[in-house]
Amino acid sequence: MKIMSDNSKKLFEELLKYSQSDMYPFHMPGHKRNMDFLPYKLPFDIDITEIYGFDNLHDAQGILKNSNDKARRAFGSKYSYMLVGGSTCGILSAVSSIVKSGDEIIIARNCHKSVYNACTLNSLDVHFIYPKQDNESRVCMSVDTDSVKALLEKYPFSKAVVITSPTYEGVISDIKSISDIVHSYNIPLIVDNAHGAHQRFCRLSREGEPIENGADIVISSLHKTLPALTQTAVANLQGDIVKQDLFEKKLSVFETSSPSYVLMSSMDMCFDFLMHCENAFEEYCVRLASFSQKMTSLEKLSVLCHGGDSIGKHGFFGFDKGKIVIVTTHTNISGIQLTEILRENYHIELEMAYPSYAVAMTSVCDSEQGFDRLAFALTEIDKSLEYVVTPKCFPDIPKPEKANKNTDKADVSDKYVYAYPPGVPIVIPGEVIDTETRNYIEKLKKAGVEVTR
Ligand SMILES: Cc1ncc(COP(=O)(O)O)c(C=O)c1O
Repeated sequence: MKIMSDNSKKLFEELLKYSQSDMYPFHMPGHKRNMDFLPYKLPFDIDITEIYGFDNLHDAQGILKNSNDKARRAFGSKYSYMLVGGSTCGILSAVSSIVKSGDEIIIARNCHKSVYNACTLNSLDVHFIYPKQDNESRVCMSVDTDSVKALLEKYPFSKAVVITSPTYEGVISDIKSISDIVHSYNIPLIVDNAHGAHQRFCRLSREGEPIENGADIVISSLHKTLPALTQTAVANLQGDIVKQDLFEKKLSVFETSSPSYVLMSSMDMCFDFLMHCENAFEEYCVRLASFSQKMTSLEKLSVLCHGGDSIGKHGFFGFDKGKIVIVTTHTNISGIQLTEILRENYHIELEMAYPSYAVAMTSVCDSEQGFDRLAFALTEIDKSLEYVVTPKCFPDIPKPEKANKNTDKADVSDKYVYAYPPGVPIVIPGEVIDTETRNYIEKLKKAGVEVTR
């Protein structure tokens, strides 16, 4: 796989040139690229900060503007911004660039904690869209356009709508119809696309791709599904509703003033790759299709939208086939136990596990051997399991009420409580921890899910 194109000026090449020059660094970072002092295999030699000739991320005019322009062309947006603080800093900036303190906002309840933190920081009055849960796997389904419409009718002064698509589990929402309804109120749709940076480039994931379907701000983690280093992400803006200057202002609040050139160079290479990635993604689709075919032999486990399973069974608007969601509901093991078996017996580490499923994240960089290993392991494990005809389904995610003046203070949460991963809150500060919620949290913990407060 070829990641860098031959023709464009590479941030990486400039960094190498600088590291090989005799320029003495009386500047940050403190390690001074002194490789005699730093025996580790880390990229100290190209780790610089914003020095002469290397532009300024917060007012990009030169080499970093070139990278942002490359991203804009690759993603087809009006403005693109490299982010060195993950999607988290993009989401905080996006929400904060639109609202004023005390405003109303509509968000999907299954949003990531960064969306909740943005709401808290801006003291927002939050109205929730509650996506339904799939009966068997218990994953959250697509955001329903009618629910967005109903909430906008009820709260017409809301300043933005925020949803996640695709979700951690690969579920895609109908961005076109949601953005149409949101725009009829002349407010922006922000899409947390942390798991969908590859969507535009992969035909098996492309449905509901947010930029071509009208979302106003789209935040995508490059590091989750593309060849780029951890913490790298991109913010894409389009349309006339959102103001580029306000977004930039907020980025300068939430993003470090010492952006890593190692991270930015990895993003720059990734954008080059994206402009020449058709074959690589086609080969990835072939690997996914071959994996999917192998999953048809499963009798007890199932894999969402792969093998014998199909999108029609679940009623998702769309599904990112790059997410391998292995459902254990009809077996005698949980998703957490499945990850343990895969780890211990097959040396395969999955991304996350829940009582009823486990998620293997794939990308264009996965090899055929990798897919074959997973397919072999799942087929073998499946044979060893018992089929459970009428499973006890894990309960619905609770919908705790907002506390009121009559609520006993001891029952009111002063913290976020969330399962990590995926970092989606179960209870937020100011909500009542009732018996159903308490039992749900206890059940999660008992099943081996890490619950963080
Ligand atoms: C849905 C979702 N949104 C946002 C984020 C934050 O992304 P990042 O880790 O790039 O800051 C995550 C991280 O897991 C996520 O799952």
